[in-house]
Amino acid sequence: MSEQTVSIRTTGKVIQSPCGPIVHGLEDVLVKITSISDIDGRAGKLWYRGYRIEDLAENSTYEEVVYLLLYGKLPNVKELEDLKRRLAANRDLNPATIEVVRSLAKAHPMFALEAAVAAEGAFDEDNLKLAEALRAGRYKQEEKDLALKIAEKLVAKLPTIVAYHYRFSRGLEPVRPRADLSHSANFLYMFFGKEPDPLATRAIDLYLILHADHEIPASTFTALVIGATLSDLYSVIAGAIGALKGPLHGGANEAAVKSYLEIGDPAKTKDLVEAATKPGGPRLMGVGHRVYKAYDPRAKIFKKLVEDYTAKFGDPQKLYAIASGIEQAVLSHEYFQQRKLYPNVDFWSGIVFYYMGIPYDYFTPLFAMSRVVGWTAHVLEYWENNRLFRPRACYVGPHDQQYIPLNSRT
Ligand code: CMC
Repeated sequence: MSEQTVSIRTTGKVIQSPCGPIVHGLEDVLVKITSISDIDGRAGKLWYRGYRIEDLAENSTYEEVVYLLLYGKLPNVKELEDLKRRLAANRDLNPATIEVVRSLAKAHPMFALEAAVAAEGAFDEDNLKLAEALRAGRYKQEEKDLALKIAEKLVAKLPTIVAYHYRFSRGLEPVRPRADLSHSANFLYMFFGKEPDPLATRAIDLYLILHADHEIPASTFTALVIGATLSDLYSVIAGAIGALKGPLHGGANEAAVKSYLEIGDPAKTKDLVEAATKPGGPRLMGVGHRVYKAYDPRAKIFKKLVEDYTAKFGDPQKLYAIASGIEQAVLSHEYFQQRKLYPNVDFWSGIVFYYMGIPYDYFTPLFAMSRVVGWTAHVLEYWENNRLFRPRACYVGPHDQQYIPLNSRT
């Protein structure tokens, strides 16, 4: 392509490039067939394996959702008990991984999570065995069972990494996991080192249910890209954690609460919202979504929990009041109405965590603790019919430049 012929126009989500139209950000591009989750962005609906998110949020636990997403059906009593037992048995970390977490005590927990998951993978014999089988072109029942076993281990271990990092960052000794507690209760127990409050446990569990899968956001796409190279399952999750860390994705719940704390006064919410409507103004965190062009159903569900929680424990820093003010201003503002921008799941979720005493840099790790099941489920599904991702780029630079030796360059 010569430089003279280059003409690039961006019309909405499409870049008109010299090589043809490019769907910028792969918006609405289909990359796989799935039966894991489905979103109706216009109606604001979400299903896991055909079950409405509202029904799962009201009636199930995170462990049930893990089973549903990995095994494709809701578990019966025995299947659920067996899964809980396996999860509880896999919560401990390799001692070397614990040292990785300890050495990153001063870093943001997402760095520690990413590094610790990669480290743990190097010690997991099942992980290495599966990677070897995949490289040899085998993905039969034995390998599928092994992949499910590893997926469960990842679900079990992420909360331990997050809780240990919190303890190390505060100069505290880690609290070993307890097999008699549920996934969410055990996480809070390891984090704070005491029996958790039931409403706090429910808040964590609900959050984990709501974030467990969401079709193909950036982190799941990252997981698929890594998985399709036939790399190992822990590397898949480490990479997905790296993608989730960004503020346009999983980092938004942290950014949303920070913005509420910065305003500090419900009377100032209109100014914040107004500023976001100005060209080049700061985006409102927790607002807008690539797929939802309606109120995010997960945000609606979590909002109710924030109301229950603040009714019981109060709203001392007015975070609920500030978020409610922003919500009202957003819903009634022409700018957001025209662009179909509504509060998303990250708008409300951080408030409860903040009041529970979970520092906001641990909000995105909580997201990862939940989504790990969706990431693994999608990669396992993709391996059924694996194909390497290898897109192309439209090159618009020069060709056949004359190489000038270093010392002759000006
Ligand atoms: N505040 C103000 N304006 C916004 C916002 C916002 N939060 N989000 C989008 N817009 C505007 C944007 O400026 C653009 O306006 P214009 O047409 O005048 O240029 C228009 O809306 C469309 O924006 P876009 O960037 O093309 O939309 P997108 O689909 O690429 O962005 C998004 C989706 C989530 C990245 C974006 O809405 C955003 O940055 N939101 C804030 C961050 C956030 O809350 N992220 C969490 C997403 S939900 C959790 C998850 O699934 O990870």
